[in-house]
Amino acid sequence: MLDIDFVRSQFPALQTPWALFDNAGGTVLPRQVIQRASEFMQRYQMQLGASYPLSVEAGERVLGGRRAMAEMVHADLEEVVIGHSTSLNLRLLAASLRPLWQAGDEVVVTNLDHEANIGPWRDLADSGIVVKEWALRPETATLELEDLEPLLSERTRLVCFTHCSNVVGAVHDVAAWVRRIHRAGALACVDGVGFAPHRRLDVKALGVDFYSFSLYKAFGPHLAVLYVRRELLQRVHRQNHGFLADKLPDKLQPGNVNFELTASLMGIFDYFDALESHHLDAASDPPGADRGPRLERIFDWVADYEARLARPLIDFLRQQPKVRLLGPGASSTVPRLPIITFTVEGQPSPQVVAALETHQLAPRHGDFYAPRAIRALGLEEVGGVVRVSLAHYNSSDEVARLVSALEQMLGV
Ligand SMILES: Cc1ncc(COP(=O)(O)O)c(C=O)c1O
Repeated sequence: MLDIDFVRSQFPALQTPWALFDNAGGTVLPRQVIQRASEFMQRYQMQLGASYPLSVEAGERVLGGRRAMAEMVHADLEEVVIGHSTSLNLRLLAASLRPLWQAGDEVVVTNLDHEANIGPWRDLADSGIVVKEWALRPETATLELEDLEPLLSERTRLVCFTHCSNVVGAVHDVAAWVRRIHRAGALACVDGVGFAPHRRLDVKALGVDFYSFSLYKAFGPHLAVLYVRRELLQRVHRQNHGFLADKLPDKLQPGNVNFELTASLMGIFDYFDALESHHLDAASDPPGADRGPRLERIFDWVADYEARLARPLIDFLRQQPKVRLLGPGASSTVPRLPIITFTVEGQPSPQVVAALETHQLAPRHGDFYAPRAIRALGLEEVGGVVRVSLAHYNSSDEVARLVSALEQMLGV
């Protein structure tokens, strides 16, 4: 069980009376990430690739950050693109894939995803790509594989969907869906932004072709990771200088990565190391040991902690007749992450959030850039949903404060 006091002591921004419940919007940083960025800016802010020692050391730090991300997703270093944001990474990917396709080829997008994994693909319609929509089921707010079946054809080139919706919190069976998509001869592009802060990532086990997530929602700085399976990265059209067309992953990274922020990514592993040495009696594995089992262990702790954290809030919301809780129901076998969204009968969502803010509680309302999902669920007129998105650094006390503020608001 995670020692929450220790966890919280690692995040300077948590020294606030506010309970931060907008973590699917962005997480705060552990001090180890801040230290790595600060160290880089103070000592190594110079050009990489030269032979003088400081340039070499700076290069090692940036490479270390890239390596950490490859280990984080369980991919090879050359398969991991680091970019400004998921929105930008997926736009670059769309531009890179388009030259491989003919007019009349088909792409499937959902209406549940964040627009980052819809817009770039929909825009390909301008150049003759046929875009089909895999629609969510309004009664459960979920995507069902059987609804994809009639959309697949021999012209389907790509299916894009989310690992975990940022408005619903249900986790999709990515590995099974990808197998089905591959049998149809198509590729799969998965948005892992909602999933990454909560569970171990393993792109090889999922079998995905493309997988993206944003580091600023996963305890890192404003950067994003895009995994591209090696054979595909070799084939896609470059977005960088011509002479880098064969260099992986540089061909999909126009210009340099952000040095100081990329160097700070090693700080995420420094934080995980601190968690391990605090929670384990035995010393951590030696430096250089395979991080896979260690990441499994950390994310098992996180999953266990998050489940206990979210339970009282979910149970409370389920019992309220005036509350509509989105996502998997009590009897559903679909796993859910602690992204908890709801509406309250008779109270627009902005009003609910404003009331909770008077208690120094910080959830959020809106469409969370998934306006198609909010429309399909008929929630536009109430100002979208109220979203309480928890991270493993939230405490049970904070959740209890939220439940008691909701009790007051609902008059129960
Ligand atoms: C599920 C999901 N996908 C994609 C994005 C876009 O990420 P970025 O801000 O890095 O473009 C977000 C951001 O809110 C998101 O929640």
